[in-house]
Amino acid sequence: MADQFKVSDNVAKMRASSTLRAAQIASALREEGHDVIDLTVGEPDFDTPDFIKQFASEGLQKGLTRYTASAGTRQFTEAVAAFYAEQFGTSFSPSEVAAACGGKQALFNAACTLLNPGDDVLIPRPYWVTFPEIAAFCRANAVYVDTEATGFILTADEVRSKITDRSRLLIINSPNNPSGRVIPGDEIRRIIETCAELGVYVLADECYLFFAYPPGEVFSSASFPAELREFVCVAGSFSKTFAMTGWRIGYTIANEAWTKAMVKLQSHSATHPTSFVQYACARAMEDPERSMTAVRQMLAEYERRRDWLIPALNTIEGFKCDMPEGAFYAFVDVRDMLGGKYARSADVVEAMLTEAYVATTDGAGFGADGFIRFSYATSMDNLKAAVDRLHTLFGTRSATAA
Ligand SMILES: Cc1ncc(COP(=O)(O)O)c(C=O)c1O
Repeated sequence: MADQFKVSDNVAKMRASSTLRAAQIASALREEGHDVIDLTVGEPDFDTPDFIKQFASEGLQKGLTRYTASAGTRQFTEAVAAFYAEQFGTSFSPSEVAAACGGKQALFNAACTLLNPGDDVLIPRPYWVTFPEIAAFCRANAVYVDTEATGFILTADEVRSKITDRSRLLIINSPNNPSGRVIPGDEIRRIIETCAELGVYVLADECYLFFAYPPGEVFSSASFPAELREFVCVAGSFSKTFAMTGWRIGYTIANEAWTKAMVKLQSHSATHPTSFVQYACARAMEDPERSMTAVRQMLAEYERRRDWLIPALNTIEGFKCDMPEGAFYAFVDVRDMLGGKYARSADVVEAMLTEAYVATTDGAGFGADGFIRFSYATSMDNLKAAVDRLHTLFGTRSATAA
């Protein structure tokens, strides 16, 4: 009977997540007994800070086990507004905030309340795998904006050149997954001004908000004045910042009308993120000094790994990698290796996995065939062992070439 099931057109158009598939292959090989070093992971290898866990149990003990408002508790939305005001000098009100079950649901809520079938969605390439699928689900058309000429850092000129009468939404993601690049704040401003001038909305995925390494700039689009924010929805998340991927909590910051529409949609789907998780996050944001100390400790470790890993990857024969300013990914250009033994970067990924047991993610899933994503959200020991194995597999570049 199961083969008679006909999936809806909306979902049939979506492709399965290539990043999750890469992680699944790595764990299947591990179950077969192979010593796999998994550099596919898109989540922190740190545990959630203890004080946040304690706030969650405190919430449970207080009996916060019932439904909350679909937009999230007043305490949660006020805490987001106060935390951003403290960190970025913002001035939006709690009524412009809605809690969501992770950044992913925040993005879905924003896109589904804005897009109509046939609208164009501008998606900078390379992109996070979910963006085109959200467009497909809304029966909108993904229109890609190539960013290689500007080192994968989106510019207002690139955006302007792609806007037409059908353009309804631009999705930006900085710090970026998969490239690790960060768009400077003044360029983000130009991008949003361009979109506002031409009547295009902007969905700013700030899932890696604090992940810009010194001297880089931590910048939120929530800090624009109200007349620019009219066109912007920020999708935020606790997943990466506070090492809370499993807790499933994020939020949107958008004008009141957009927020109301998102809350209406969410009231018929997830309803709201878990009550005592909202409480724990609100308490953490109410103490920004303590929270940011915990975040800075994790960021210092990611930065140490990045500073070691990128030069090390550049010593592997055929690999080229620019220094990323943010997130926890290295995006390696392997196009010099193609044409002989390897036709595509997917073949290089497969060779690394089956011959060296180093699992990575092929760039094709991010719209960048010829590139490979390495996550450094893993221990320094793992990174060093992976690089050793890749030297053995591909050889070592001479110092001058590297
Ligand atoms: C760019 C980007 N946006 C959003 C998300 C969603 O994260 P979450 O739903 O866990 O908040 C991820 C997760 O990998 C991501 O990489």
